[in-house]
Amino acid sequence: MTKKRLGVLTGGGDCPGLNAVIRAIYRTATYSDWEVIGIRDSFTGMFERPIRWVQLDESNTRGLLHKGGTILGTRNTGSPFSDPKIGEDAQTRIRRLTVEAYKELKLDALIVIGGDGTQTLAYDLLDTDMNIVGLPKTIDNDLAASDQTIGFDTAVAIAADAISRLHSTAESHERIMILEVMGRDSGYIALHAGLAGGANVILIPEIPFHYDAIVKKTKERIQTGQYFSLVVIAEGAVPRGGEATMQKTVSGAQVLGGISQTVARELHAATGLDARVTVLGHIQRGGPPIATDCVLASRFGVAAFDLVKQGKFGKVVTMKGNQIGCVDFIEVVHKRRPVSLDDHLIHTAEAIGTCLGR
Ligand code: F6P
Repeated sequence: MTKKRLGVLTGGGDCPGLNAVIRAIYRTATYSDWEVIGIRDSFTGMFERPIRWVQLDESNTRGLLHKGGTILGTRNTGSPFSDPKIGEDAQTRIRRLTVEAYKELKLDALIVIGGDGTQTLAYDLLDTDMNIVGLPKTIDNDLAASDQTIGFDTAVAIAADAISRLHSTAESHERIMILEVMGRDSGYIALHAGLAGGANVILIPEIPFHYDAIVKKTKERIQTGQYFSLVVIAEGAVPRGGEATMQKTVSGAQVLGGISQTVARELHAATGLDARVTVLGHIQRGGPPIATDCVLASRFGVAAFDLVKQGKFGKVVTMKGNQIGCVDFIEVVHKRRPVSLDDHLIHTAEAIGTCLGR
């Protein structure tokens, strides 16, 4: 009897834990006598020609648990299926080529590992013959319907370590040290890392900040003899009444970033203390996953294949209160998961004197 064949792809920005998921999927599927192939470079490996894929086997899935990035490659350049700039004809052609690749590769199912952008791409293919299961990853932790996504814990650990390193140099030089972290329009990384690293000020997109509040906080510290402060700013943080700060990449893309420079200038002007900025950037996404991400990756990988085995397609794996479950794609696509203002972390931060800019 011919074995059933499973395809796996990774899409969107990479993050620690992607290879650990690929390993878990390969192992559990192999034990159930399925064959597994990896699609290269997200969906582009399916809609570009020649089709790009790799047979997964014992040798290329060995040692993957702690390996950073994704051995399959990834793309995060938007959705070719729904981007109006591409035009309807091109979109239809890309969809057709993707479905043809699925058939040519003789796939019985496809597991799509990605954040909201990639899951939206998968959602746009659910009305075809493709059997798809989604698996959430993103350091931003902003995927709707899941309390946690792969990569988040590691990004928080890296950012928290950066804050604690900035602490000693801030204190030695009597400076304000500002750390800008990723997260798009959600403040999970900033809030968790800020708490873990002991930041004095944490600014997140969900709470538009008042300059007066952060100036007050740093001045209070000066009055008590602490001539330094640690400020963590999410890249999407906005001043009250203002807009998010954008910058251009070398290839011309508009991306979030740069708010920390403005905050540094304002705080220096108001307090007289020197202020320095560190933009942590892609360091948050690189390198090996920490233990909790290895565990989550293994759980998500197994859960995704369990859905495949049960023929439950059109579902995305989730975690709610440490329980692994799943939801329909519609619960995840075109949605944001901001930090709730009722989140106990917000209360915790303010209860221990952290300024959230309000
Ligand atoms: O979504 C993950 C993320 O790391 C965001 O936090 C960040 O804004 C973005 O990706 C950066 O993406 P790029 O790889 O295009 O620089």
